[in-house]
Amino acid sequence: MKRNIVIVSIVIVLGAFLTSCDEDTYVSASDEENILDEQEPLGLVTNYGVPLYPYLKVNKTGDYFRRIFLDSITYVNYESENGLPDGSLIVMETWSNGSQSSVFYRTKVNGEWLNGSFAPSSPDFSAPSEIVSCNSCHMTAENTDYTYTLPRIAMALENGAMEIMECDVPPLTPCDLEAYAAN
Ligand code: HEC
Repeated sequence: MKRNIVIVSIVIVLGAFLTSCDEDTYVSASDEENILDEQEPLGLVTNYGVPLYPYLKVNKTGDYFRRIFLDSITYVNYESENGLPDGSLIVMETWSNGSQSSVFYRTKVNGEWLNGSFAPSSPDFSAPSEIVSCNSCHMTAENTDYTYTLPRIAMALENGAMEIMECDVPPLTPCDLEAYAAN
């Protein structure tokens, strides 16, 4: 019993730590002009050490946006009927007022999504885990493989370019689920 309480406490503290990471900033726009150039349709991106294709940019209230990438192997072989296969890696950047905060990622292992985050300058995909705070919010997107933006992968592939969506809600609030699926 006591042991369970200790484990739950650790999970809560870890969750709070990772959530707070979202607010930290690491890179300013002037340092990283190349990866912030949002007008350019992005192609393959390699600055996190793994080849990634961007499929969506979500603009939210204020000078705040997120860019979401899928590993290149899954992206080029993607078939929307089957959802995302084991080994899929989704990476999400967060930019606010020209500064980048922690990079979040989720990867599918044995049918389950595991979570992780790192500072943009130190990519680290080595220890994804079941983080309760991530999984509980992503539960809302159950119908799209626990992934809010899944419908946009097929759309980006079809159009041959990163999708851009406007969503006028505060940064950490999910948009309407229909908005992620809209054409
Ligand atoms: C309060 C809800 C919430 C929490 C908590 C949350 N996310 Fe998300 N996540 C979202 C929303 C909403 C999106 C879609 C982008 C947007 O609208 O900002 C998203 C998108 C993502 C994506 C892109 C793939 C997708 O689902 O569309 C990744 C990767 C991701 N989150 C990782 C994480 C990780 C890792 C954590 C925990 C450290 C986490 N998220 C915690 C709501 C949440």
